[in-house]
Amino acid sequence: MAESLPNPHRLSRATRVVHPDTGLQGDGRALIPPLPMSSVFGHGNSHGYAYGRDDNENWQRLEGVLADLEEGDGALVFGSGMAAIAAILQSCGVGRRIVAARDAYTGTRELLRHLAGAGQCAVEFVDATDLDAVARACRGASLLHIETLGNPLLTVPDLRACAEIAHQVGAIIVVDNTFATPLLVRPLTLGADIVVHSASKYIGGHSDLMMGAVITNAGDLLAKLRYQRSNAGAIPGQLESWLALRGLRTLDVRLRRQTESAMFLAERLGGIAGVARVHYPGLADHPQHDLALRQMREGFGAMISVELDCDAATAERFCAATRIWTNATSLGSVESLLERRARWAGEEYLPAGLVRMSVGIEAAEDLLGDLTQALIAAGVGSAEGSSVTAPLPAD
Ligand SMILES: Cc1ncc(COP(=O)(O)O)c(C=O)c1O
Repeated sequence: MAESLPNPHRLSRATRVVHPDTGLQGDGRALIPPLPMSSVFGHGNSHGYAYGRDDNENWQRLEGVLADLEEGDGALVFGSGMAAIAAILQSCGVGRRIVAARDAYTGTRELLRHLAGAGQCAVEFVDATDLDAVARACRGASLLHIETLGNPLLTVPDLRACAEIAHQVGAIIVVDNTFATPLLVRPLTLGADIVVHSASKYIGGHSDLMMGAVITNAGDLLAKLRYQRSNAGAIPGQLESWLALRGLRTLDVRLRRQTESAMFLAERLGGIAGVARVHYPGLADHPQHDLALRQMREGFGAMISVELDCDAATAERFCAATRIWTNATSLGSVESLLERRARWAGEEYLPAGLVRMSVGIEAAEDLLGDLTQALIAAGVGSAEGSSVTAPLPAD
């Protein structure tokens, strides 16, 4: 009675990620997909699998979900976000002129600088929120690489306008959607040619795997990237693919909670003594707030940056003084992380006291209380004048 069953593609994303194979249930199968670990497959099998570096069941199941979530025709998973980005640059950018957002992930900028230094491409970095600058830089370019939310100031480029600029000069546009996830922004629907993810972040969601993914509607780009993955071999493990699929089942609930908590924290942090500025696209004073309202579907994400009114040493003391937040890099996991960004090479241009926060799923009040006690412990601002004095709960 297939006709009476709901069409899986009419179900919401929150439902589809829980039922990735069909969107339906009730045919008696195991609830959790198997984890076949084989790296070799007998010739003549019905799936056409031969060798684990080319394709396998674990990847395909995950790729199907990612393509569905991003509204793409096809997806490929890689061994890390950087492996996915390197594959894109190798197969679509080498020998050409590449334009990239100047606040793209440091690893991406570093790789581009390295490729340019080795004479493999020409690179120009640009403020992706300045459309005139993007248009000027894109003359003669073959690839534009931007991120849905810039790092670490959470800038918001106009994806549709950037795609139009890139396409006018015959370039492809690649959008790193790691910070927003397909639940908040779907760049392919706004004109992007390729979406790339560090699936090590929100998609995995538990700080326990490294993975990258690309999603596209362009069959020729997918074929190039598949060739690159098979032959350069930057593949993910089978277990990681299975874990990522498990992580995806809770992406919707995790991100809803994280996004709500981020808004709560962003609104309150501005009122605390010692916090000079809060960068969050959900705040009315964010430079691209109106664009974020149009472009981001169900929230402004779970990343916040705060500028503390202090020197580098004091900001480091603050990061070390938290008890719930972990002083660590990375983002997108269930636990809250924070770090002073100017500690990294290439980020020294940032204010010394700028702290980037990845909001986890802990209770928002506890997260706020922890930040408040750490500010006081580190001697940033003063407890007086702070509108928040939430103590840590005893239990
Ligand atoms: C926006 C963004 N893209 C790509 C990457 C690279 O991903 P991975 O660490 O999985 O290689 C990162 C890593 O932090 C990132 O933040």
